[in-house]
Amino acid sequence: MTTQPELSEAQIAVHWREEGYYPPTPKFVGQANASEPAIIERFGEVNFPECFKEYADLLSWDSYWHTTLDTSDPPFWKWFVGGRLNACYNCVDRHLESSRNKAALIWVPEPEAAPTQVITYQELCRRINEFAALLQGFCGVRTGDRVTFHLPMVPELPVAMLACARLGAIHSEVFGGFSGAACGGRIADSGSNVLVTMDSYYRNGELVDHKVKADEAVEAARALGHEVEKVLVWRRHPGEYASEAPMVAGRDFFVDEVLREYRGKLVEPVSMPAEAPLFLMYTSGTTGRPKGCQHSTGGYLAYVAGTSKYYQDIHPEDTYWCAADIGWITGHSYIVYGPLALGTTSVMYEGVPTYPDAGRVWRIAERLGVNIFHTAPTTIRMLRKLGPDEPSKYGYHFKHMTTVGEPIEPEVWRWYYDVVGKGEAAIVDTWWQTETGGFLGSTLPALQPMKPGSCGPGVLGVYPVIYDEDGAVIEAGSERAGNICIRNPWPGIFQTIWGQPERFVQIYYAKYCRDRRSRDWRDWPYFAGDGAVQAADGYFRILGRVDDVINVAGHRLGTKELESAALTVSEVAEAAAVPVMDDVRGRAVEMYVALKPGFAPDVSLEDKVSAAIVHEIGKIARPKNVWLVADMPKTRSGKIMRRVIAGISNFTDVGDVSTLANPEIVDDIRHRVQSEK
Ligand code: WT7
Repeated sequence: MTTQPELSEAQIAVHWREEGYYPPTPKFVGQANASEPAIIERFGEVNFPECFKEYADLLSWDSYWHTTLDTSDPPFWKWFVGGRLNACYNCVDRHLESSRNKAALIWVPEPEAAPTQVITYQELCRRINEFAALLQGFCGVRTGDRVTFHLPMVPELPVAMLACARLGAIHSEVFGGFSGAACGGRIADSGSNVLVTMDSYYRNGELVDHKVKADEAVEAARALGHEVEKVLVWRRHPGEYASEAPMVAGRDFFVDEVLREYRGKLVEPVSMPAEAPLFLMYTSGTTGRPKGCQHSTGGYLAYVAGTSKYYQDIHPEDTYWCAADIGWITGHSYIVYGPLALGTTSVMYEGVPTYPDAGRVWRIAERLGVNIFHTAPTTIRMLRKLGPDEPSKYGYHFKHMTTVGEPIEPEVWRWYYDVVGKGEAAIVDTWWQTETGGFLGSTLPALQPMKPGSCGPGVLGVYPVIYDEDGAVIEAGSERAGNICIRNPWPGIFQTIWGQPERFVQIYYAKYCRDRRSRDWRDWPYFAGDGAVQAADGYFRILGRVDDVINVAGHRLGTKELESAALTVSEVAEAAAVPVMDDVRGRAVEMYVALKPGFAPDVSLEDKVSAAIVHEIGKIARPKNVWLVADMPKTRSGKIMRRVIAGISNFTDVGDVSTLANPEIVDDIRHRVQSEK
C-alpha cells in the first residue's frame, strides 16, 4: 500500500501555464560547446551507459576503468570501475603546464572597498599543498577520514576541499549560516575528528563572529558521544582574532600559525579508485536526522565536468560566476569541481547580493568581465524588487545565465532574460538535487529553446519518467501531474546515505522498485521527491516537493527538523511546520505551536520559538510567523493535519474537515490567523 503524503507541497503548487519559446541568439549558438544535434543521439538510450565515457574522458585518469557501469548490487551503482584518479590533480595540477598564471578563483570580499583576490592555478596549488600537508602532518588525516568544515565564502573553503581531495580524505562542508548545533550533529554523524572553521566573516557589511559556533558544534557533537580532536581556525584577517570565543588550549589552533611549519611543502595527490567517496553533503529529509549524501570521486567529477561543459557552456577563457554558496551542492559542483576541472576562472563572492545596494552584483560582473552568471530565483526576485532597472546601468554582457533551486515564475524569468541578460544570454533552468550531484533536467542552451517556467527535458543520458502514486506511468507529454523519477543511473548520482544504506534504499528506490532482486537498472527508478508535469514537447515543469520538505529560497528544510527545534522550548507541547507562499523566497515556513497546559500565549513565546529554530538549524530557517494556537487540527488517531493548517496559512481550501477529532478548531485558527495577516 502506498501512503498519501499528509501534506504535499505540490498541493500549493505552481500553477502557471505552458509558455512560448525563446530561441538562443545566433551568436551564442555559434560559439557553444554543444551545437551539433548529434550529441543528443550520442547520449540516446541505446548508447547507455557507454555514452558517459564522453564525460569521463574530460578527466585525466591514472588508470583507465574497465567497466563503465556495474549494476551487480542495485541500487548501489558503481561507475568507471577499475579507474583511478585524483580530483585535486584534475582540478588544479593538470592545468599548471598550460595555465599556471591564469586565474583559477577570483574572490570578491566584503566590504566593497576591500581588494579583490586573484588566485592563479599556481597559487591555488601552493595553498592546497600546504594545507594538505598540515592536515596530514598536524592532524593525522589519512585517506578515507572525514573532515568537517564550517566555512563561509572564502577561498580557504575550496582550498580545504581540494586539500582533502588531494589526500583522498572525505570532506563535509556545513553551510556557514547553519547553527553550531546543526554543525555538531553533522560532525558526529560523519565521525570527523577535525573541524575547520574561521573566526569571523562579513555579512551585510558587518564582521560576524563565527568561531562561537565551533564551540557549540563541539559541544553538540560531544552530547552525541563524539569527540572532536582539533579545531583549525582560519583568521579572516590573519594575525588578528575577531571572535568572543576563547581558543581552547590543545584543541583550537590558528591555521596561519601552524601553516608556517608547512610553507612550501608538497603532497603527492593520492590516486583514488573512481568509487572512493569524495565528499559528504548533508541535506534534510522526512525525519529529523539529516542525510549525509555520499558522492563518488570518478563518477561525480566526470558528471560535473561534462554538465559544466555542455550546460553551463564553460570554455577555459570564460569568466564564470555562480553566486551560490559553496556550502550547498550548487557551489560544490558548479563553483568548485566542475569549473576547475575544465580549467576556467570561477568567481567567488563573500557577501550578499543586495548589499550595500542592488547594483553590487552588476558592478562585480562589469568589473571582472563575467560572461556566465548563475543564481537562484530567490536572488533574482530580490534584485528585481530592489533594483528593477539597475542592470542597464552597467556595461557587462552575459552570454549565458542559470536559474536553479526552485521553480521560477515566468514573469520573473522574463525580467531575468530581458533586463539582466539584456536579451543576449541563453538561460538554463536546471532542475536537480543535493543527491544527484549535477543537473537532471535542463535545455541544452544552443540546441533546445528556452521556455519560461519549465526546466526542459531530461539532460544528456538522463531519462525521466512520471509515475502516479500507485506506480503506473503517467503518459509522457500528457501534462498530468505525478512524481518525477529517473529511470536510469547516471555518474553523478550519490552512492548512499553515509552510514544508513537501508534508509538510502528506502527513501529513493523502494517506492517504485519493480523487483528487489533484479540487477537490471530498468527495475530501479530513482524517486526524486518532486511533483512534475511533462508537456507535449517533452519539457518538464517541476511543481515542488511531494514529501515533508519545505524549499525555502532554494534550500531544503525538513518539517520534522523544524518541529523538533520548536519542541526544545519547554512551554511547547506540539508543533507543526507548514510552507506558505512568499514573494521573494518562493516558500517560507510558518510554525503552529500549541502550548502545554498552564501556559498562556504571548509574544515573547513566539520569539522564543523563532530563536530556538535559529539556534538549532540556522537563520535561514527562521519562521515567517509563529502562531500560538489552543490546539492543532487532528485526526481521530491524533495525527496533526498539516494539510489543513497549510490551507489556512495560504488562504486556500482546507478540504474536508468533518472527520477530524476537533473540527471546531479549524474556524478558530482560521479566524485568528487570517485576521492578522
Ligand atoms: C530541490 C532540491 C539543485 C541544487 C540546489 C538545491 C527544487 C531544484 C529546481 C528547478 C524547480 C527545483 C526541487 C528539488 N529544485 N532546482 N530548476 N526548478 N525546482 O538542491 O537543496 O537538494 O533541493 O530543489 O524541489 O527536489 P536541494
